[in-house]
This record gives sequence, C-alpha cells and structure tokens, in this order.
Amino acid sequence: MIRLRTALLAAATASVAMLGVAQAADDPNEVLAYRKHVMGALASGISNVFAVLQGKASYSQHLASSARILHEASLQLLDVFPEGSAVGDSRSKPEIWTDWAKFEEAGKALQTAAAELVAATEGGDMAAIGAAADKVGDACGGCHKPFRVPQQ
Ligand code: HEC
Repeated sequence: MIRLRTALLAAATASVAMLGVAQAADDPNEVLAYRKHVMGALASGISNVFAVLQGKASYSQHLASSARILHEASLQLLDVFPEGSAVGDSRSKPEIWTDWAKFEEAGKALQTAAAELVAATEGGDMAAIGAAADKVGDACGGCHKPFRVPQQ
C-alpha cells in the first residue's frame, strides 16, 4: 500500500516536472520559431505534392507520405498560435486572437482538405489528387489572406 502511494506520488511529481519543462519553452520568440517550422512542414508537404503533379519531380511514390506530412502538420497548426506570440518579425495579425473562432475554422478547413488529399493519394487517381491538392492550396490562402500580414 505504501509502495503504491510512493509510486503514485513519484508519477505525479514527474508529470509536474514535465509541465514545468513545457512552460519553460513557451518564450514567445521560441513559439514563433516553432510556428515557422510547422508552417515550413506544411509548405514542404504541399510543394512536393505539386512538384510531382506538375512533372517537375518523378517521386510519385512519395505523394501519399508528403500528403501525410502535410496532414500531421495541419493537426499541430492551431496549437502554435498562443496569444502574445505576435513578436519580433511575426506576420500574425491581431485578428487571429480577436476572431479566434474564424481562425480556428480556417485551421480546421485545412485539416479537412489535407485529410482528403491523403485519401486521394491512397486512391492513386491523379486527377483526384490534383483537385484535392488545389483545395489544400485554397485552404492555405483562406487563412493567410485574412490573418497574415502581406509581405512588404
Ligand atoms: C489557420 C491559418 C493558417 C493556415 C490554414 C495556414 N497558414 Fe501559413 N501562416 C499563417 C500565419 C498567421 C502565418 C504568419 C505566422 C507568423 O509570422 O507569426 C503563416 C506563415 C506561413 C509561412 C511563413 C513561415 C515563416 O518562416 O515565416 C509559410 C511558408 C506558410 N505559412 C505556409 C503555409 C502553407 C503551405 C499552408 C497550407 C498548406 C498554410 N501556411 C496554412 C496562418 C495559416
């Protein structure tokens, strides 16, 4: 009984320690750097899908894994915009946080489009893959337009 209690206490202490680590990393500049890497993963996934679709690269065997990279990154996206992280050279507009419901909708639209792209790549029909990839592109623009400061 005492052993069990000790074990539970040790587990609780460990999880509190892990929480501390997660919070220590939450410096807004670190969040911004992390966010850029998530966006970079999105860009890698969709760019490589388009490179194959447009015949610039012949790695058609990578279509499904590129789509999955994109989908996984899309699932991280909404986590990496905590309030107060529009620091430094961030191009995040304040509307992200004043209109979070709309931002969340734009993030979920990308997740749906990315999941549809994964399904299309598993089917292997190039026309369907192309249509799904275009929808992903629309979903990127559907958030960048309202929520990202245009490049100077
Ligand atoms: C829900 C909103 C949203 C969606 C969807 C979205 N983005 Fe972004 N993206 C942003 C915002 C906001 C920024 C600016 C982030 C910052 O600088 O704080 C950004 C920045 C970027 C950047 C620049 C990163 C850097 O290094 O500065 C790239 C590249 C990018 N997005 C690619 C994509 C691609 C590709 C997609 C679609 C597959 C996508 N994004 C979908 C909101 C979104």
